[in-house]
Amino acid sequence: MNIQNALNLDDIRELARRKLPRIAFDFIDGGVDDEHCLRRNREAFQQHRLVPRYLVDVSKRDQSTVLLGQRYASPFGISPTGLAGLFRPDADRMLAASAAKANIPFLLSSASNGQLEDVVKVAPDHVWFQMYCTSDEAINADLVRRAREAGVRVLVVSVDVPVNSNRERNRRNGFSRPFRMTPGVVLEALAHPAWVLRYLRTGGIPMMRNWQPYAPPGASASEVADMYGTLTPAPMVQWQHLQRIREAWAGPMVVKGLMHPDDARQAARMGVDALVISNHGGRQLDVAPSPLEVLPAIRAAVGDDMELILDSGVRRGSDVVIARCLGAKFSIFGRPTLFGAAAAGEAGIDRVIRIVRNEIDMVLAQLGCPAFEELHAGYLWPAHAQFSPLNNRASGAREGSTCETSAPFAIPSAPVER
Ligand SMILES: Cc1cc2nc3c(=O)[nH]c(=O)nc-3n(C[C@H](O)[C@H](O)[C@H](O)COP(=O)(O)O)c2cc1C
Repeated sequence: MNIQNALNLDDIRELARRKLPRIAFDFIDGGVDDEHCLRRNREAFQQHRLVPRYLVDVSKRDQSTVLLGQRYASPFGISPTGLAGLFRPDADRMLAASAAKANIPFLLSSASNGQLEDVVKVAPDHVWFQMYCTSDEAINADLVRRAREAGVRVLVVSVDVPVNSNRERNRRNGFSRPFRMTPGVVLEALAHPAWVLRYLRTGGIPMMRNWQPYAPPGASASEVADMYGTLTPAPMVQWQHLQRIREAWAGPMVVKGLMHPDDARQAARMGVDALVISNHGGRQLDVAPSPLEVLPAIRAAVGDDMELILDSGVRRGSDVVIARCLGAKFSIFGRPTLFGAAAAGEAGIDRVIRIVRNEIDMVLAQLGCPAFEELHAGYLWPAHAQFSPLNNRASGAREGSTCETSAPFAIPSAPVER
């Protein structure tokens, strides 16, 4: 199959599976423990139904969405994924370039191979920077400074990796963190010569360039990765660490990984501008709920003013629409764009974006809702939402809007009008 023949994101995953040695594919694809959480992230979307409203003029459709004060062409973006250079050399720059072409945000991981300052130059208006709080506060402060000086507009702090998790596929495959090229790995990789050739041509293990300045001069890629492994995860990180980053960062700040409504409320009180509701793609806590399940409660906890972004398990345009109807303004996904990069470089990432964009467009037409920003809970079939016979109107329906509903039901606790 050629990348242009890929019909959906599963096709692209399959193309990547063929291109990557198993150890690399599984590193992207896998989850924690028994991978229940990974599956739950997909199943959560399947619990919802969207009800079409026909006989509405949908000849012009608009999925552009304003997030943190910037209008993007689509209501989705690219989640941060570390070590992307392992799957396709220069993947971080490709992800940034594709995001800029499509006018969507790309969240660059601090664990990237591309250097923050270089990647931002590729797409100055579309690259957000994601960092973890490390155990070294001076380094945290320096990362914030570098992001500011590089011209990053939005800073994302991920909080859901207090410790490394039990990813059994990685352990079975001998994938250690930091990554090491053992003879066993090389042997397995030989079944995928194109990947191995690229890997060798670009000098083997890719450097985690953001961390080079904190390592001794001349440190090798594995030495830098070792040093990174001593700084993060940082299990001692608490709210006061986040507070210090909030004080140091004047622009929009997003926290990624909070799942409890009380934590969301605390972040809002701290002045965090938006949250990425995420279980890290099912990679950290196998018994965690899916972000879609907790979304209505978080929306209720933080009220209408905080922007919510849904992450983990998004694979179809309809997923982005469902998330919106449940209260998330935007969605992001991580694995699909990495698979796109592994399968066909920048063209593969472009293809992923185009597929999701087209799917959203078709769903909007079917729903009789020409503008993504006009979606609301009234499009959810109530059997799968909360039902109240006392009200006769879906919450979130806007008076006079093209998408106003007269549905004889209400969804009381999921205010979605944003
Ligand atoms: C290979 C890989 C690397 C990741 N690296 C990071 C990272 O550096 N920082 C982070 O906040 N999340 C990281 N994540 C999690 C993603 O940002 C995102 O939460 C997850 O992929 C969403 O699930 P999805 O892949 O089902 O869309 C990573 C995920 C993958 C698959």
